[in-house]
Parts: sequence; structure tokens; C-alpha cells
Amino acid sequence: MFSKEVYVRRRAALLEKMRSEGQSGLVLFIGNAEAPAQYKNNCYKWRQESSWLYFFGIDEPLYAAVLDIDSGEETIFANDVELDDIIWMGPQTPVREKALAVGVKNSAPLSKLEECLEKAAGRDVHFLPPSRYYNTMRLEALLPGKTPSEALTKAVIGLRIIKEDIEIQEIDKACDLGIQMHSVARDAIRLGIVEQEIVGLMEGIALAKGWGTSFPTILTQHGETLHNHLHDKVIEPGKLMVIDAGVENNMHYASDFTRTYPTSGKFTTKQREIYQIVFECNELAFSLTKPGVTYREVHLATARKMLEGLSALGLVKGDLDEMVAAGIAGLFQPHGLGHNMGLDVHDMEDLGENLVGYEPGQTRARQLGLGSLRMARHLAPGYVITDEPGIYFIPALIEKFKREGLGGDFVNYQALEGYYDFGGIRLEDDVLVTADGARRLGSGRLPISPDDVEKAMAK
Ligand code: GLY
Ligand code: MN
Ligand code: MN
Repeated sequence: MFSKEVYVRRRAALLEKMRSEGQSGLVLFIGNAEAPAQYKNNCYKWRQESSWLYFFGIDEPLYAAVLDIDSGEETIFANDVELDDIIWMGPQTPVREKALAVGVKNSAPLSKLEECLEKAAGRDVHFLPPSRYYNTMRLEALLPGKTPSEALTKAVIGLRIIKEDIEIQEIDKACDLGIQMHSVARDAIRLGIVEQEIVGLMEGIALAKGWGTSFPTILTQHGETLHNHLHDKVIEPGKLMVIDAGVENNMHYASDFTRTYPTSGKFTTKQREIYQIVFECNELAFSLTKPGVTYREVHLATARKMLEGLSALGLVKGDLDEMVAAGIAGLFQPHGLGHNMGLDVHDMEDLGENLVGYEPGQTRARQLGLGSLRMARHLAPGYVITDEPGIYFIPALIEKFKREGLGGDFVNYQALEGYYDFGGIRLEDDVLVTADGARRLGSGRLPISPDDVEKAMAK
């Protein structure tokens, strides 16, 4: 946990923001409950709700809190353990002490929460959109028919989106672990072994040195499937292997890196040509990342760069700006350039992708690719985002474009037929927006240029 003062300051800032928006009443926070995987005592790995962690830090199930916007009073609701729990869980610090440790003076049993909300009848009760179904049900039982508060959601996003220095230190640590994990994976690539063997080795780092992985690992020779969670294939020569994985450190901050490797240790000419384009897009995005520009502009600049490279290879043809406007890049990169990252690998997307990634006045495109951009905002110092361009050859998507004429005259479908078994390439770094530009997070950088990748694989 961070020091008490951190949580006190964050909650005070939240209430101040709510007041400055003319809001009053109560703010209700609900932490996560354990989620049974099969029977009640066999649960999925425990993970606290991220906004709860941000404002209260207490990493245990079945906590709730009420903050009074008008009086500033704060109360934590949770149950002290009984002897039966102690037998199974060992002695536990009383709730009161845990509450005091994060600067909350009042605490009460969970059963008092209902009473507290009943007493507040007639006042506004603000709560966030719940990220888990169990909390959706709890909220419906506590506040029947009520909906999440947009004012609170915006206030929380406004705070969490700007990372504090202590958070950046944690994200740097998560990135260092992510880099270590990816290095182990790269060094383990061998023809003839099953992909799963590498997953086991790399996730071992995440578990040995952090909380675990920050999302289910993607490690596949079918990188054209963007989120391929199957690891059952034998590693074959001449393929490309996409590894997209991250660590959540013990303070629950995430990293998220992607590298793509030639399984034989050397790129073929065709692979290198496409790889070089993705690499240049990654570099371009980083060079454009600075306060004041929108990440939408950066996405579009990389889309243009990508089309320029594909055009040089004869896979598309025509005016670059017209192709960008027509969304042709989406055929090759049907996802956005990046997302926010912090306590969640896709930070705060449970609060609403558009509220997190878009500002008033920015509307989300409907186009393939640009429409999947999760972070379009004007960049500001303290933002942590990913830079993750990719090129994928998805036969079903190419066929659809061809069939329905979606690529106009821009796409050379005949040339693309030679890429149906190519797979995909994605290259992802984690980036902090600074006062005058950007810094890649982590104390080093995974090899990324085609030459450096081959060199690292030859070791
Ligand atoms: N791990 C999914 C992503 O890169 O967004
Ligand atoms: Mn990723
Ligand atoms: Mn990512």
C-alpha cells in the first residue's frame, strides 16, 4: 500500500472535484467480493476493484465505503472476522485499524451500510459503474433502480488518468518485470516445442516477482487473430510469433508489451518488409507523443505511415490521405493505436471506454480500426498509454473487403493473396507523456528493430 496520506489526499481531491461540479450527497464505493470458480470455497484468484484500490488501498474482499460530499465524513463498512474465519485465515487486523491506516476515522459492520443509505433517502447517492456482475446485483439490492453517476465517473477518471509520481514508479517496476518476462520468452523460442511451454516460463516471472499477469497472455504463431489465447501449437520454422503479455506488480500496476519474432531466428524478406513498416509506425507514434496533440492524430499519422509502406510494396495504391480517410488502414490494423494503462491494463475501461478515452466534442469513429481506438484524447503530462501498431493479414476480412467493395480501388487483392498465410505483427511499448514529450516506461527497451531482434535471438 501507499502511505495513508496518499489515500487521504486522493479522496479529498475527489470530493473537492464533486463539489466544484455542483454535486452533493453521498459517494458509495464497493470493493470486490470473492468470485467462486466452482463451489463457494474455490474462488478465482483474488483481485480487488481498481477504483477501490486507488482511493482506499485495502486489498481484501467485501469492503464498502461512503463519503459524504457535503460534510466530508468518511466511513468504511466491513466485517471483522470471527473465530471460524480465524481458523481458516489466521488472525486478522481489525477493520477499524485498517480503516485508520488509510485515514478513515469511522468504520462499521457491513450490515450497517443499508441503514446508512436508508438514512440518506432524498439525497443523491453517487456510485461508479460496477465492473463485476456480483456488484451489479449488490448495488441493485442496495439502491433499487438507481444508475451509476456520470459526475462521479468523470471525476474519478479525471484523477486516475493523470498518474502520480508514485504510480509512475510502480508502472516502471511493472514494465521492468514485463521486459524480463518477454526476454525469457524470446530466449525460449525453439522449433519443435509447444507454445504453452514458453507461456509457462514467462508467466513464472510474473508470478515469482509480481502479482501475476496483467491480462491473459497472447503467444501465438497466428498473430492475425488479435487476441489469440490458444497456446497449443508446435513451433514451426518460418513463422512469426506474436507475444503480447504484461505483468501486474504487487501494487497492482500493469505493463503491456508486444514483440513479434521469426520462429527461425531470422526474418524472411517478406516478413522483414512488413515488420519494418510496423516498427516505423511504433517509432513514429512515440516521436509524435507529447502534450497537446490528440492520440487520434497520432493514430491517423501512423495509419498514413502504414499505408505508405504497404503502398511501396504494391499492396495498396492511391493517394495516401484519401486512403486514410477511407479507412483502408483498418483492413490491416483493425484496432486502435493504444489505450490508457495503470491499475488496469486497459485503464478504467470498466468506467466506460468513451468517457475514459474521449473528451466532450470528440466522437468515436465508426470505421474499422479508428473506431476501435480506445484513447483519442489530447495528451497531457502524466498520461500513461500504449503505442501498439500492428499489421495483420486476415483472409476472412480481406475477402469481405473484396466481396463488398469496401476497399474501393485502393486495395490490390491479387497481391494480398500471397499474404494469406503470413500471420500478423504487433509491436507494443508503454509510454508516459511528460511535460515536453514522452518517455518509454521501464528502465530498458526490449529489442525491436529487425536487426536487434535477430541479434537477440542469435544469443
Ligand atoms: N493486451 C491487449 C492489448 O495490448 O491491448
Ligand atoms: Mn498488449
Ligand atoms: Mn495494449
